[in-house]
Amino acid sequence: MADEQTEAPESSAVRVALWRAMHLEADSPPHVLEDEIGLQLATPEEDWRRRPDMDQRATSGFRAAIVARARFIEELVAEQADRGVAQYVILGAGLDTFAQRKPEIASRLRVFEVDQPGPQAWKRRRLAELGYGIPDWLHLVPVDFEASESWLEQLTAAGFDPGRPAVIVSTGVTMYLTKEATAATCQSVSRRCSRSAEMSWSTSARAREVAAGWASAWADAASAGEPPPAGVDQGAGGVQHRSVMRLMAWLRSAWT
Ligand SMILES: C[S@@+](CC[C@H](N)C(=O)[O-])C[C@H]1O[C@@H](n2cnc3c(N)ncnc32)[C@H](O)[C@@H]1O
Repeated sequence: MADEQTEAPESSAVRVALWRAMHLEADSPPHVLEDEIGLQLATPEEDWRRRPDMDQRATSGFRAAIVARARFIEELVAEQADRGVAQYVILGAGLDTFAQRKPEIASRLRVFEVDQPGPQAWKRRRLAELGYGIPDWLHLVPVDFEASESWLEQLTAAGFDPGRPAVIVSTGVTMYLTKEATAATCQSVSRRCSRSAEMSWSTSARAREVAAGWASAWADAASAGEPPPAGVDQGAGGVQHRSVMRLMAWLRSAWT
């Protein structure tokens, strides 16, 4: 986690932004996602393409996963916006540029970007320097998931209504958090957010912690005699969020 006083992006967030930019240069069209703004925000060294983690062949799988998850989520948000959902929460937003690339959709919503204070202050400054600014429908909410503060309370103070439908996403974040912070995040959503909230996670190293977080949220609800938390199915191998299933379906349709 970044020092809270450090006004700089996390290197992990810059890396995924550069992979999204590299997708446009290294992969043949049609492109899964077109994001050049992340590169503008990041302003890497001129030789960034020669970084070992930007090796076009060696990192092609990572690049594919990064653009696929971003495209999946953007389609999910567009679909939910058409159904009247008006809140979109991006946990650990990093250099996400949905708000700048898709203002026609984003401006119909209240978009909440949650990230650590230092990296977020850096992004706020970069958006101003590039002339994007912060429109009134975009809320940058500084939160450290590892601190004792409640991210949901901070979000609510910024205008989020947990009682109303929302799309809540977290991509590429849980692997940087402790399992306690991941479980607490899952529980805040399942206990306090609208049952029609649509939640989408991407996980890797911490997949087990996310599954455990949802499992405990599910058990919690069951012991209180409530239905399972929104969007959670208990499958044979544990708990899977329905967005994972939707992602699989989307990948099948996009690449067949
Ligand atoms: C790999 S980046 C992913 C960015 C974005 N979600 C994406 O997919 O492009 C991880 C993000 O999680 C944020 N993060 C890591 N630890 C955090 C914490 N304790 N509290 C809040 N955000 C955190 C980082 O600042 C960074 O922006």
